[in-house]
Amino acid sequence: MTDAPATPATRHLPPDGRGLAEAAAILREGGLVAFPTETVYGLGADAGNGRAVAGIYAAKGRPSFNPLIVHLPGAEEVDRLAEVPERARDLMAAFWPGPLTLVLPLREGAPLSPLVTAGLPSVALRAPAHPLARALLEAAGRPLAAPSANPSGRVSPTTAGHVLAGLAGRIDAVLDGGACAVGLESTILALGPGGPRLLRAGGLPVETLEAALGERLALDTDPARIVAPGQMASHYAPRGRLRLNARAAEPGEVMLGFGEVAGELTLSASGDLQEAAASLFAALHSLDAMGAERIAVAPVPERGLGRAINDRLRRAAASRGS
Ligand code: TXA
Ligand code: MG
Repeated sequence: MTDAPATPATRHLPPDGRGLAEAAAILREGGLVAFPTETVYGLGADAGNGRAVAGIYAAKGRPSFNPLIVHLPGAEEVDRLAEVPERARDLMAAFWPGPLTLVLPLREGAPLSPLVTAGLPSVALRAPAHPLARALLEAAGRPLAAPSANPSGRVSPTTAGHVLAGLAGRIDAVLDGGACAVGLESTILALGPGGPRLLRAGGLPVETLEAALGERLALDTDPARIVAPGQMASHYAPRGRLRLNARAAEPGEVMLGFGEVAGELTLSASGDLQEAAASLFAALHSLDAMGAERIAVAPVPERGLGRAINDRLRRAAASRGS
């Protein structure tokens, strides 16, 4: 029942063909590899593998699930994952690969773990410019979810040494590409029905974006949206009412189990927190699809990934005013 399994040693991989092949193999098997981008080092995992993505949160010790940026080799892959407005195509043509992340409406059936988007109906996409990041994305052959490769609450790493100082023993490998050229995270722009919204100032100057869009951008100062849009309760709370720390269902309740507490649905029958994290948002969506009005949720231990799981469950319960 461990989460964040301490890997005995974190491999320090060289920036050559052997290092790339090794890194890609680890990622395809669901492991975690830190890799250089032109902005900062990212902690990569297969974005379609829920367990792998849960591993990112465990390694970082992140107490809540925030949506992650999905890294792609280029604009060709975007249509599989998102609804792409014309404006987004222009921006991708102008600034990709590079330090611009676009938040677009999530495409139905996109092959991404719901943990990547924290259950939101949008997805953040970016094509990094660093040659090693591009080579790794090509070699892995799948989109990679990657937040900055630092323990939660610490500054973003711009060298492999920084990554190892924070995460050695908690991730499978770091691909060493030397120091990052930009050293500042990507600029994040959301393009949705409400028009462009600047979510984070970053490596691509805002003036450059404004010139391309032909309009002024103000930083969206709603802290809920900037820091952790996944914390906006309405986005991921199921319609039903949640009763937490339940040992058994009462009449009329659907049981969401964990470990020895069984249910119609379970987060993890074996009590594995990484599996539970990986299945959490999908379980909440399934409860909606079932039309569950009252939901009993088994206790989840308040340690490791359990903290993030409980954080989301408490928010989902509170949003119903119960
Ligand atoms: O330069 C970068 O962007 C680096 C490198 C590794 O690519 N990555 C990075 O990731 O800075 P991270 O997790 O530290 O920051 C991701 C940001 C968060 O502020 C998150 O809230 C936002 O992206 N984000 C992700 N998906 C979103 C979505 N669907 N809607 C709004 N914001 C989103
Ligand atoms: Mg970060």
